[in-house]
Amino acid sequence: MSDEKNSPPEAHSRPFPIFHYQFPIPNFPITNSQLPIPQMKTDYIGHDKTYQRYRQEANRPGWMAATDLAKVIQQLERILLFDYFPKQGKLIELGCGAGNISIYLAQKGYEVSGVDIAPTAIDWAIENANQAQVQVDFLVGDVLHLEEIADESFDIVMDGFCFHCIIGDDRGKFLQTAHRLLKLDGRLCIRTMCNQVPDTQYYREHFDPQTRCTMHGDLATRYIGLSNDLIMEVIQAGFKVLQLEISPPLAQDGVEGLLLVAAKDKN
Ligand SMILES: C[S@@+](CC[C@H](N)C(=O)[O-])C[C@H]1O[C@@H](n2cnc3c(N)ncnc32)[C@H](O)[C@@H]1O
Repeated sequence: MSDEKNSPPEAHSRPFPIFHYQFPIPNFPITNSQLPIPQMKTDYIGHDKTYQRYRQEANRPGWMAATDLAKVIQQLERILLFDYFPKQGKLIELGCGAGNISIYLAQKGYEVSGVDIAPTAIDWAIENANQAQVQVDFLVGDVLHLEEIADESFDIVMDGFCFHCIIGDDRGKFLQTAHRLLKLDGRLCIRTMCNQVPDTQYYREHFDPQTRCTMHGDLATRYIGLSNDLIMEVIQAGFKVLQLEISPPLAQDGVEGLLLVAAKDKN
């Protein structure tokens, strides 16, 4: 057990232990084998079509089915207890979708904004917030171009499972946005798919091990990086990693998740 705690999150590690590290990790092998990540064709606004479809489904709360959302809320309950996660303040969720995570965080007392590129998602989020009688500022926007929001507006930037939707050089822009929006020592919380993909028909057909992207035709839709590379991207963008863990997949046929809290340590 103590070995697990001190060993790095290997891409192939099984079964899925929860790692709980604080930097600096002795002998932690940071590689950047996948960097620089090539830019590929992608279609962020294409998420809107999926929301149009999901919104027709009865009892669906948003991007995630209700059972997965319940697991995410459990994970959030834990995150809120992390030493390095601020207990109050202004928070923005990047890629908030139908707003369920933003609404939960507003109910916990944070002053929340949520942004998503999909107008249908933001309509849905406003409706969900009204139903929950919760105040959240939702806006349609591309996380790579949020010039309308002033620098250093937030204490916390929460990745709404958006970072793994962002491909190639755009990933640096996502991190630049997060960095710019945060106050000095503000906290970035990333939850992103990582490491080995399961041996299912979907991944056999769509995962390209060379680029580590899922491909639909010539469009790259998700980046499933190796955890060490993902951590390196965050450090190179001007953050200091404070806390991280590799979480087991949410669903049986899912992918591991990297959960990371980092501080903006310089302007
Ligand atoms: C996996 S979904 C998660 C949504 C929501 N956070 C949730 O937990 O239900 C990722 C979200 O990122 C959004 N997204 C993808 N690319 C984006 C971009 N460039 N700018 C803003 N939002 C984006 C998608 O529209 C989608 O709502």
